[in-house]
Amino acid sequence: MSLLENKVAFVSGGGSGIGRAVAEAYAREGAKVVISDINVEHGEETVKVIKDSGGEAFFVKGDSSSASDNKRMVEVTVSKYGRLDIACNNAGMGGPAKPTGEYEPDAWDRVIALNLSGVFYACRYQLEQMEKNGGGSIVNIASIHGQVAAPLSPAYTASKHGVVGLTKNIAAEYAQKNIRCNAVGPGYIEAALLKDNLNNDAMNAIASKAPMNRLGTAEEIAELVTFLSSEKSSFTTGSYIIADGGYTAV
Ligand SMILES: NC(=O)c1ccc[n+]([C@@H]2O[C@H](COP(=O)([O-])OP(=O)(O)OC[C@H]3O[C@@H](n4cnc5c(N)ncnc54)[C@H](O)[C@@H]3O)[C@@H](O)[C@H]2O)c1
Repeated sequence: MSLLENKVAFVSGGGSGIGRAVAEAYAREGAKVVISDINVEHGEETVKVIKDSGGEAFFVKGDSSSASDNKRMVEVTVSKYGRLDIACNNAGMGGPAKPTGEYEPDAWDRVIALNLSGVFYACRYQLEQMEKNGGGSIVNIASIHGQVAAPLSPAYTASKHGVVGLTKNIAAEYAQKNIRCNAVGPGYIEAALLKDNLNNDAMNAIASKAPMNRLGTAEEIAELVTFLSSEKSSFTTGSYIIADGGYTAV
């Protein structure tokens, strides 16, 4: 039997990068997957990739920084597949590169709205539904910058530290209700968020900071997320697990 057989899973930001890899991994393991993204074309593309390989998936457009959209995304999931067992709250953005003393308050608000408030809104409504189901597993995508600084990205660092704290709170509050909540901290991954913001030299320089001397892949993060979403990790909650090629070890 596959790891996520008969489970209903939700992934935000599933149109690209880590979110798409997680959605594909969930589907491969037998889950019915609801994919949300603000980008309709990319989200629908992920659904097509999954369906073409025999999986079950459905797209719902949503802005993860909106509380009402997060509420609606849970409602759509339940009306389509009847329940919600697994959620990967992945949608996120980097924001501009500026030192804290020059960082525009508007940019701060946008990054926090998606990366931190968005994860709270998602969990808020997912938890309500998972309680009705009798359990569930949430995996929030943080970053290594949930633990160490990302100089010139103060809002990103603050948002990801916040996600780690929120994850621990949820784990403590819902452990008795059969709901687990964990955070994953990817190191530098070859995905749009990085490619759009850095040139090749900068990407190589970052890769060389990790003992493995390479960037990670979205699929490597998806494997960890799938493990944390499944019963294989049944005693793991409130954890923040880093996958970074050793970047934060040195
Ligand atoms: N790529 C990396 O190196 C890296 C490292 C650590 C953590 N992360 C985290 O992983 C997550 C995914 O990153 P990625 O690299 O796959 O990025 P990506 O840009 O490839 O994908 C992000 C997806 O989120 C969607 N999105 C953006 N704003 C949205 C919104 N308001 N509502 C709904 N969807 C929205 C985008 O359309 C896109 O499909 C983010 O939370 C990011 O912070 C990435």
